[in-house]
Amino acid sequence: MLQDKDRIFTNIYGLKERTLAGARARGHWDGTADIIKRGRDKIVEEMKASGLRGRGGAGFPTGLKWSFMPKESDGRPAYLVVNADESEPGTCKDREIMRNDPHTLIEGCLIASFAMGAHEAYIYIRGEFIREREALQAAIDEAYDAGLLGKNAAGSGWDFDLFVHHGAGAYICGEETALLESLEGKKGMPRMKPPFPAGAGLYGCPTTVNNVESIAVVPTILRRGADWFASFGRPNNAGTKLFAISGHVNRPCVVEESMSIPFQELIDKHCGGIRGGWDNLKAVIPGGSSVPLLPADIAREAIMDFDWLREQRSGLGTAAIIVMDQSTDVVKAIWRLSKFYKHESCGQCTPCREGTGWMMRVMDRLVRGEAEVEEIDMLLDVTKQVEGHTICALGDAAAWPIQGLIRHFRDEIEYRIRNKPGIAAE
Ligand SMILES: Cc1cc2nc3c(=O)[nH]c(=O)nc-3n(C[C@H](O)[C@H](O)[C@H](O)COP(=O)(O)O)c2cc1C
Ligand code: SF4
Repeated sequence: MLQDKDRIFTNIYGLKERTLAGARARGHWDGTADIIKRGRDKIVEEMKASGLRGRGGAGFPTGLKWSFMPKESDGRPAYLVVNADESEPGTCKDREIMRNDPHTLIEGCLIASFAMGAHEAYIYIRGEFIREREALQAAIDEAYDAGLLGKNAAGSGWDFDLFVHHGAGAYICGEETALLESLEGKKGMPRMKPPFPAGAGLYGCPTTVNNVESIAVVPTILRRGADWFASFGRPNNAGTKLFAISGHVNRPCVVEESMSIPFQELIDKHCGGIRGGWDNLKAVIPGGSSVPLLPADIAREAIMDFDWLREQRSGLGTAAIIVMDQSTDVVKAIWRLSKFYKHESCGQCTPCREGTGWMMRVMDRLVRGEAEVEEIDMLLDVTKQVEGHTICALGDAAAWPIQGLIRHFRDEIEYRIRNKPGIAAE
């Protein structure tokens, strides 16, 4: 179990002061100028060595991403954009950072922006996050007043401005290029890639989009050293990580733990176990609604990291763990996710626009048992036609939960078809 001394987020529950004075007392904003004086290349190298992989879902190595930013400006400004959209069902970790420990993110924005040659950064925050935005803005105002932002930020010699932009509450605006469109004042529709944001991102300028948690851990990594961070988790899965556990556990929570913690240990130590005991476990969605679920027998063996879950044809995603006990109607649960993806599709590409509706309607009938057994394979086939054939990963996100359901709970779907329970999908 991770020890308190190794926690980056020491105020994640908001029990202490979230003010600048409180943050400083917990060690934040300590020697920020000295970190920046190490220089751009050194910082990027250390981030690579730390092994940090993006915390927004895809797990792309953070230092490597930063290294794609141009070393010399061709006259265009560079931007850091922080993805605070946090709309993936089950995911509720970034908001705890923003409302309870905002200075970790603000200090991270300064250092990360310097490391990619950006004098400006934007935090794009989810429309529903009103209190979080207020807390964040209050912390930014405090940082300006203290000279930590603005001209010669924190005495580093680097001029840096930080803005918060409030979204209007659309899941698709969490996809990085849709987010950039939205930030520019347009409809949140994903862009074709390439060009990638590092070449042409916000206003056509070099941009890096990173998740809140990815940026908020940066200052502590650079203060304590890449080796310290890399000492947690299995190789290629480094660091500490915020896990958000919801559903049928005795005490749902958000907790910072070591990457690669066994699932059972995570649930027993921090959530008081599964509701009704371990034998009552039915399935787990280990990484936010987009990743395929795992049945109880695999989940009980799970190592919570990118590679282990990938090997089981699921994923760590945002590390939002949705636990379902035996009382769960798992077909209906996945149907509900299908409805969500259908609703959130931006409609730009045909396989997603048509496929999400198609999949939802078949799921609708599977819930009621009003389908033929052959339709299960037809549905699987449709998921394969959507997967990998769209502009952005929302198409995959809609396909994977259904694939997981069919892979692990085909019996249950067939049982319903044979017994037609007539359960209404509302
Ligand atoms: C439909 C969709 C929604 C997404 N929503 C979010 C989100 O709310 N927050 C986030 O950080 N990343 C989200 N992502 C991932 C981003 O596109 C991007 O990979 C991420 O912000 C990169 O940051 P990281 O490298 O620090 O993980 C989403 C992706 C897709 C396809
Ligand atoms: S995959 Fe779906 S959400 Fe993404 S661009 Fe295409 S239609 Fe829009």
